Amino acid sequence: MKIAVCPGSFDPITLGHVDVIQRARTMFDHVIVGVGRNTRKNYWFSAPERVQLARGALADIPGVQVELMDGLVAAFAQEHGATAIVKGLRGTADFDNEQAMALLNRHLSGLETALIIGDPAKAHIASSFVKEIAAYGGKFEDLVPANVAQALQQRAQERKKGSHDE
Ligand code: PNS
Repeated sequence: MKIAVCPGSFDPITLGHVDVIQRARTMFDHVIVGVGRNTRKNYWFSAPERVQLARGALADIPGVQVELMDGLVAAFAQEHGATAIVKGLRGTADFDNEQAMALLNRHLSGLETALIIGDPAKAHIASSFVKEIAAYGGKFEDLVPANVAQALQQRAQERKKGSHDE
């Protein structure tokens, strides 16, 4: 069985992520979505919340599993018997960082990284922009899965009240 690990922060998962994960599923029998931590990012959602939102968004896609990834992608992929790591590319701006991570992950684990070109109609969707739109009261409902839209709305309100301000 060919297993792929699709790592990311997923803060929160967007329709762009769902598209890439669906495409990965056409290449691999099983896709494990690894919800990780990027130490340079301030998250809106805790790791368990990000896992829960991704599980809700991906519940209808068979052969996709969501797990918390507490550590290195390379170690997580090896532990889960992955054949490859899969990442989505929105455009050339993503490439340099993805190349560096792919080379490091191969150095650490010997695993190859497959870079999937997502749907161009979703290339403008990034979690960071979605959060910015939510924070300023813009329309974001068509950029994220329905369960995520609800959670974002609520979190944006909480942050406005100051309860989640850093
Ligand atoms: O969606 P993001 O924020 O680009 O995802 C980044 C993530 C979580 C995949 C990345 O920060 C990561 O790989 N974190 C785990 C630690 C790790 O493996 N670091 C080395 C990467 S070469």
